[in-house]
Amino acid sequence: MKKELFPNAYSDKLFEQVYDYLLERIRRGEWKAHDKLPSVRVLAAEFEVHRLTVFKAYQLLKENNKVYVKDKSGYYVQPGSVLPPAVQQDPIVSAYVHESHLSEIHQVEAVYQFSKALLDPNLLPNRYFSEYVKKVFDLYPKVLGTYSTTQGDAELREALSRYFTDRYRFDLTKDEILITSGSQEAIDLIARVLVKPRDVVLLERPTYSPAIDVFRRQGASIIPIEITPDGYCLEQIEEMMQNHKPRLFYMNPTFHNPTGYTVPAEQRKRLVDLAAEYHCLLVEDDPCPDIYFGKAPPSPFFAYDTSGYVIYIRSFSKYISPGLSIAMVACRQGIMNYLIKAKSLSDNGTPLLNQKIFLHYFFSERMQQHMEKLRTALAIRKDIMEEELSGTGWQWRSPAGGFNLWIKLPESVLMDELLGKSMEQSITFVPGTICDPLRELNSWIRMSYSYLNEQQLREGLRRFVSLFRELFGE
Ligand SMILES: Cc1ncc(COP(=O)(O)O)c(C=O)c1O
Repeated sequence: MKKELFPNAYSDKLFEQVYDYLLERIRRGEWKAHDKLPSVRVLAAEFEVHRLTVFKAYQLLKENNKVYVKDKSGYYVQPGSVLPPAVQQDPIVSAYVHESHLSEIHQVEAVYQFSKALLDPNLLPNRYFSEYVKKVFDLYPKVLGTYSTTQGDAELREALSRYFTDRYRFDLTKDEILITSGSQEAIDLIARVLVKPRDVVLLERPTYSPAIDVFRRQGASIIPIEITPDGYCLEQIEEMMQNHKPRLFYMNPTFHNPTGYTVPAEQRKRLVDLAAEYHCLLVEDDPCPDIYFGKAPPSPFFAYDTSGYVIYIRSFSKYISPGLSIAMVACRQGIMNYLIKAKSLSDNGTPLLNQKIFLHYFFSERMQQHMEKLRTALAIRKDIMEEELSGTGWQWRSPAGGFNLWIKLPESVLMDELLGKSMEQSITFVPGTICDPLRELNSWIRMSYSYLNEQQLREGLRRFVSLFRELFGE
């Protein structure tokens, strides 16, 4: 009987589908290291494809060091291609999640959580929150018994399209907005819809750690693009676009996580033009444009886009209401149709109650006034962190917004030891390696000043610096 390959694969090249089929099974451990794989003849008959198609798939596996050839007797599994048994044991995990580095750190319970780039819940206007919840139940008495549409509540999408048109002159209708449960879901949906194995994806270096895990899981070939306080090197990006035809560039250009850098306005327009010229989508992840300490950042890339090459992800969960977990994706209709289908497979729509509460809370006068207070509170916390670290000799660029300090420790630091001992003392931070697509940046760390109150910040930092001196004497 004919075996189905990947019925929903995005590739129309048959040999790539055979390649994906074989690789997935090798990774899952269905064949072990040094096992002999089915012959070209057998697979060609099973799949009802030409032998050359299977031969090409094996050649590619060989080039990518997944299989080797022995004595002309056939193909064998190269050791190292099989996922570790710990991952394989659970067939659901092995078929889906490969790694999720940041969530592992977040699961550690600690008093001094410098790893959490989230808002201290005490900084939100919690006392007034019940008013909005009550208002929602009064206005929509059936809200608890109603599903949202998959794309998201029309009233909320209408309000957001007006907001972005007024604020940044976005050319955006409500049909070009998808509501998601946080921007993490948005990144995941975009990766599923747009990226197939071996597609080239550009990622900033460093970047938001879970994005590396998501695009890796998709089987993408990742090319790192350095981000510096001055933005990107556009010549490097153009060369990569020309030579490697990337599918997309995932970026976080405003108060970048983890560095805090912002890509200047001049580069934004030029990069949008390059994207259109080389047919590379720009996925702009924008979780905290309102958290600035001096002047507001430049308009998002989406505002410069006239050709539909920018997909804009805007989270509202980071500093407005983490508990509601609301984000949106803005993009043109073609991609939107695919995203809606993917979202319907994921959860059929973000909870309507969350969307309605968010709508009334976000657009209220109180929330908008609250933003000013929030900026001041976070600027004070950033200053405290910088003051506490000022005597250490460690290096960082003072961020103009966002939640994090990206810190360079002395090269001699042993990161595993520092992280392990810190956790023993109830202190967490994010090691730079997990933010690096190349898994280097061994002496960098991300510390967030947004989650702890002023007293905890000072106390935790003092403990951390003294632990560091104890361990490394610097
Ligand atoms: C750049 C970036 N993208 C996405 C997210 C996830 O945000 P959400 O809570 O909306 O899923 C974060 C959160 O830290 C982030 O910093």
